[in-house]
Amino acid sequence: MAFIVGPGATPFEQLGGAIGVRALVDAFYDRMDLEDAFAGIRALHPSTLDGSRDKLYMFLSGWLGGPGLYVERFGHPRLRARHLPFAIAGAQRDQWLACMRQALMDVEAPAELAQNLLRAFFDTADWMRNQQEPQGPS
Ligand code: HEM
Repeated sequence: MAFIVGPGATPFEQLGGAIGVRALVDAFYDRMDLEDAFAGIRALHPSTLDGSRDKLYMFLSGWLGGPGLYVERFGHPRLRARHLPFAIAGAQRDQWLACMRQALMDVEAPAELAQNLLRAFFDTADWMRNQQEPQGPS
C-alpha cells in the first residue's frame, strides 16, 4: 500500500486514499466474519455484511478527512442513535476496537497513525455504549 506521508496529509491520505480506506473496512469485516473472538458483535449485524461494509466505508472516508460520502448520501450520521437498536456494553465496544486494531495491522497502517486512530475510535465506540455493565456482587 502506498502511503502519502508529510505535513498536512490527512489520515485518509495516509491510509492510501479511497482504496486504502476500503481495504481497512474489508479487513475489519473479514475478521469480524471469521473470528470467534468477534462472534458477539458479528451476531448483531445482518447475515450479509455488504451493506455494513459500504456504510462504514462511506462514513470513514469523511471521518478520516476524505470525501464526505456518508453525509452526502444519508445526512448527519447520528451514530449513537443509529446504534441504539444494538445492545452495546463494554464487551461489545472492546470487540469492535480489537477487530479494528487487527484490521489496521492487516493494512499495515503506519504505527503512529494507527495509535492515533485507535484513540479516536475508542472515544466514539465508548460513547456508543447503551447498556449498563453487569453488576458484580456488592
Ligand atoms: C462500539 C461497538 C460497535 C458495535 C457493536 C457496532 C455495531 C453496528 C451494527 C450492528 C451496525 C448495523 C450494520 C448494518 O445495518 O449493516 C452498525 C452500523 C454502523 N456503524 Fe457501528 N458498531 C460499533 C461501533 C462503531 C464505531 C466506533 C463506528 C465509527 C467509528 C461505527 C460506525 C457505524 C456506521 C457508520 C454504521 C452504519 C449506520 C447506518 O447508516 O445505518 N460503529 N454498527
